Order: sequence, then structure tokens, then C-alpha cells
Amino acid sequence: MSIRKRYTGLIEHYRDRLPVSETTRLISLGEGNTPLIQLQNIPRLIGKDVDIYVKYEGLNPTGSFKDRGMTMAVTKAVEDGSKAIICASTGNTSAAAAAYAVRAGIKAFVLIPEGKIALGKLAQTLMYGAEIIQINGNFDRGMALVKEVADHAPVTIVNSINPFRLEGQKTAAFEIVDELGCAPDYHCLPVGNAGNISAYWKGYKEYSTDTDTHQAVTKTRPIMCGYQAAGAAPFVLGQMVDEPETVATAIRIGHPQSWDLAWAAQKESGGWFNKFSDEQILAAQKMLSQYEGVFCEPASATSLAGALHDISTGKIPEGSKVVCTLTGNGLKDPDSAIKQCEAAHPVTIEASLDAVKKAILDNM
Ligand code: F0G
Repeated sequence: MSIRKRYTGLIEHYRDRLPVSETTRLISLGEGNTPLIQLQNIPRLIGKDVDIYVKYEGLNPTGSFKDRGMTMAVTKAVEDGSKAIICASTGNTSAAAAAYAVRAGIKAFVLIPEGKIALGKLAQTLMYGAEIIQINGNFDRGMALVKEVADHAPVTIVNSINPFRLEGQKTAAFEIVDELGCAPDYHCLPVGNAGNISAYWKGYKEYSTDTDTHQAVTKTRPIMCGYQAAGAAPFVLGQMVDEPETVATAIRIGHPQSWDLAWAAQKESGGWFNKFSDEQILAAQKMLSQYEGVFCEPASATSLAGALHDISTGKIPEGSKVVCTLTGNGLKDPDSAIKQCEAAHPVTIEASLDAVKKAILDNM
């Protein structure tokens, strides 16, 4: 019997490309190694000859891509002797920070905009036992406060302004190149605080300059496409937005912290930013669920909404290989999902064989 090597997380897997030493205690929950799923029905439906893959980051331990950055950030915080971490969050970062803090045995403080984070994220963060500080202001205000307070209290910031977050998150690009044997032609991402698009670009660039390991890889860098919600689209407008608004609460951000890095990713890759309405985002989320069986949260579907739009206009030409990152699991935001499916709400019938049989035969 052969024993497969146990996967124990992305730091262990990409150890030689990350800032850890032999003696570093790794704070890990087995994150990374997420599925890259090729869409089968949607390309047929839209009648385009394109290979679309979704990188399903919702299958990370806390249900979002944040775990990639958090395993690195918390590992380094602990290595540096930190006893507490802090972040501002639209929900996913707070859940990840809370989980990894528990794992490390340190404290997590999270600032969240009251009433504006999805229920699943709140439930997780409560269960992990983080100190939740709700503010009557949005993410951008929370971020400003976190940056200020870190000068006054012994806490390590674990938002993506912490460079170790991007180090961890860049591994998603490594996984994609490892799996496809090359980079895709286009990489589509939802953009909020803009750490993730910056991290992917860093990852693709690092892998492509490593000729020893990747001699066989022909194409090493994709064109980066950053998609935003129309009500929170500072990169599309070319200026910060003071009152961002969108149903995709994860990316309800008007003052992105990784502003310069994300512009560099766009320019260096020859890519672009675009924005989509809440209706377009929700339609893409529903389409992905109902045609492919993949359930992501609204913000995540912005990547697919953008890809489908740019494929339909020919900006992304036929014959392309496209990867869309699905940043978070659909279960994070049950309210918006149920609201979208109101017309399909289940009816209750009598608990009898006849009634059940009728319900089946009427709906075949
Ligand atoms: N998608 C999801 C599901 C997110 O939670 C976020 C960011 C993004 C996309 C955007 O990524 O900020 O790197 O451009 N969520 C942060 C949070 C802000 O607090 O959970 P980004």
C-alpha cells in the first residue's frame, strides 16, 4: 500500500518560496490546494469557444481566500512574539483572523461595519471567539482606525497592508500554474481592498522568473482583469469613493489600500478594470450555481460577471484560457441567496405518498 504525502497547508507546500525558516512554528489549518474547476455548461450556453476555470477559494478552511494570507500573517506575528492581532473587515478577513488566532493561542480584535457583513461571516467570527468591535462606519473608516490604533496598542495588523498576507495569497497563482502547466491567458478577480489582485500578480511574476523549476512552462503571466461593483469602483473611476455601496458587501470598499500595487498589476500585465451592477453580479452568482453547481458569495461572482461580459464583447477572444477566482463560499451570505430565490421558495405539502408522488410527477 502506498501512502500519499499528507497535505498540511500552503506554507509547507511552498516553503522555499515563503519567508519562513526551519524553526518557524507554522500556524495552519490546511489551507490552499483548492479546486480549479473547468466550467462545462456555461461556455456552451453562451456559445463561445473559451476555456473558463474557476478557482474555488470558498473551500478554504474558513470559506474564503483570506486563509492563504492569514496563515502567513499569523505565523509571522507569532514568530515575532505578538500576542494579539487586529483587522478591519467586511467579514471574511475577520473570520480568518479569528480562526488563525485561536489556532495560535493569541487574541483577535476585529472591526466590522455594523449591519453590513454577511450572516455566515458574523456567525463564524462569533464562534471562533474573536473580540468583535462593531463600528457605525464603513470598512474604509474601520481600516483608518485600525492603522491609527496599532500605534497605541500592542497589536499586529493582519489586513493586507501586512506584507505577509500577500506572500501567502500569491500561492494561489502558483497552484494554477502547477495545475494548468502554464498561466491562463486572462485572470479575472473581484477587487475590493485590492490586495488579492496584487498578490496574484506577484505570484505569477515570481513563478515566471524561476526558469529552473519551470522550463517547461510556456506562458507564465496572464492579463489581469480586475472587476468591481458599480457602486464601489474606485479603480474604474480613477479616484477614491467616499460612500461605497453594493449588495456584494465583501467588496463594499471605496478607499483600497493596495492602490499602487493593483495599478501596477493592471499596467504590467496589459489588463484592465471594469465595473458591474449588483444585478449583473447576482445574475452571474445564480448562473454559476444553477448551471455548474458551484455556489460562491456575491462578491466572488463579480469575476465571472466580468469575464462573461468581456468574452461576449470579444475583448477576451475565443480560444482563450480564462481563470476566475471565486473568493468566498456561497454559504457565507445565506440572506442574499434566499432573497434571490424567493420565486422558487419551497411549498409545503401533506406528508403522504400521494402528495409527494404528485409533487414529483408534476415537476418532471
Ligand atoms: N471577495 C471576497 C469574498 C472578499 O471577502 C474580498 C475582500 C474580496 C473579494 C476583495 O479582495 O480586498 O483583496 O481586493 N474582503 C476583505 C475582508 C476586505 O475584510 O474580508 P481584495
